[in-house]
Amino acid sequence: MSHQKLLLHLRAILQILLAISLVLNYAEIEARHSLSEAEDLELERQLKLLNKPAIKTIKGKYGEVYDCVDFYKQLAFDHPQLKNHNFHPEMKPTLHTLQGDDTSSNVNRPFNIELEGRGCPTRTVPIKRITKDDLIRQIHLSQVGDANDSPDDDDIKFSLSYGTRNEITLGGLEFATVQIPDNPTNKLAGAGAILSLHNPQIYEHQFTGGFIKVQNGIDNIQVGWIVNPDLYGDNRTRSYIYLKTGKSACFNTRCPGFVHVNSAIPLDGELLSSTYGGPIYDIPMYIARDASNGNWWFRIGSNYTGVGFWPAKIFTKLNGFATSAEYGGVAHSNRGDPDIPSMGGGYLPAGNLTKDGYCRKSIFINDKNQMKSLIDIPVKLYASNPHWYKVADSPDSKDIFGNLVLYGGPLYEYS
Ligand SMILES: *[C@@H]1O[C@H](CO)[C@@H](O)[C@H](O)[C@H]1NC(C)=O
Ligand SMILES: *[C@@H]1O[C@H](CO)[C@@H](O)[C@H](O)[C@H]1NC(C)=O
Ligand SMILES: *[C@@H]1O[C@H](CO)[C@@H](O)[C@H](O)[C@H]1NC(C)=O
Repeated sequence: MSHQKLLLHLRAILQILLAISLVLNYAEIEARHSLSEAEDLELERQLKLLNKPAIKTIKGKYGEVYDCVDFYKQLAFDHPQLKNHNFHPEMKPTLHTLQGDDTSSNVNRPFNIELEGRGCPTRTVPIKRITKDDLIRQIHLSQVGDANDSPDDDDIKFSLSYGTRNEITLGGLEFATVQIPDNPTNKLAGAGAILSLHNPQIYEHQFTGGFIKVQNGIDNIQVGWIVNPDLYGDNRTRSYIYLKTGKSACFNTRCPGFVHVNSAIPLDGELLSSTYGGPIYDIPMYIARDASNGNWWFRIGSNYTGVGFWPAKIFTKLNGFATSAEYGGVAHSNRGDPDIPSMGGGYLPAGNLTKDGYCRKSIFINDKNQMKSLIDIPVKLYASNPHWYKVADSPDSKDIFGNLVLYGGPLYEYS
């Protein structure tokens, strides 16, 4: 399918989904039964495009189903730029210079981020099967607009880009982050940190998480943890990735782009989360560019295991270096929703690591593939709404915390 056709196609689907959303809003009772046959068929057709044939299936702890999909049949290769590729299931990140992770005795790890039984067979990758309920629920996510985009741009997008809304308006995306501000002379080959994991409280159709992001112009990629019931159908803390290129944007692999390589680690697995006052859990997450080919790897865990990569070819800007990066928290509610979702540990950061949301050992990777502390580059603190969310940056302490970013904010109920 040509790119143009694909867009028209996506637009048609969006219209159908919006129509369904109206139906759901008007009659929440058993709304599924009011899907017309045509709408139902359309969803079925979508599912067929998204869910690739499984060589084996693995049941998750909560009944979710992971399909072990042949490496070469994964959705990524539906991307028009990836029709001819020489990627293969034995690929590994070639950058080995990530520093050792000296876990402090106060932090809980390891916990298993792999699927039961070491995951999928070799040469296959674990992809969470998408259900009709998922598609219907995710309509709410399609309304998450990008503050940087013009309002007449009606392509599907779920961007988590910088928010610029004024403080009076309720709802939208909120951030509390440390940023390496955009600078065309920046040559960032990656960003990462050890992220504390939480399960902050939110209301319906909200999400909240902690993340690392690299960006160049219209392209950005993110990795982190998130509580996102519209995306996942539950309130658990799960890992996520996010991709935004010029024309498309999505969580995990809802749109083609990310090439999954690791056969044991899924993109949306459950993570253990910290309790206020301890015990605390954290996990290293990195986005690291492969110097030899420009592909961006997602690496996770104490061994910086490569989960997969975003090929340089799918980008028009991130096919080179990143020019900005970001570390911290995000929270989202729909416009008009009076209730404010909590962020991070669910409290304003107070400098106590058993309570705060944090990114410790926050680093960027320079164009010589060296890991550098944030103290080596100008940074900016950014809180889109300082009444609700705060961020703090504590430069290198040369101990296990490295450059420490603290963030968070409480839940407010106004309705
Ligand atoms: C998530 O938690 C909220 C608030 O407790 C609740 O209203 C909602 O039903 C939960 N969602 C799911 C999918 O469990
Ligand atoms: C951090 O909070 C814990 C739990 O409330 C407390 O025991 C500890 O003393 C606090 N640490 C600091 C440095 O305030
Ligand atoms: C990291 O690698 C070591 C040595 O190969 C291995 O023993 C350990 O289980 C790995 N840890 C994780 C969390 O995968």
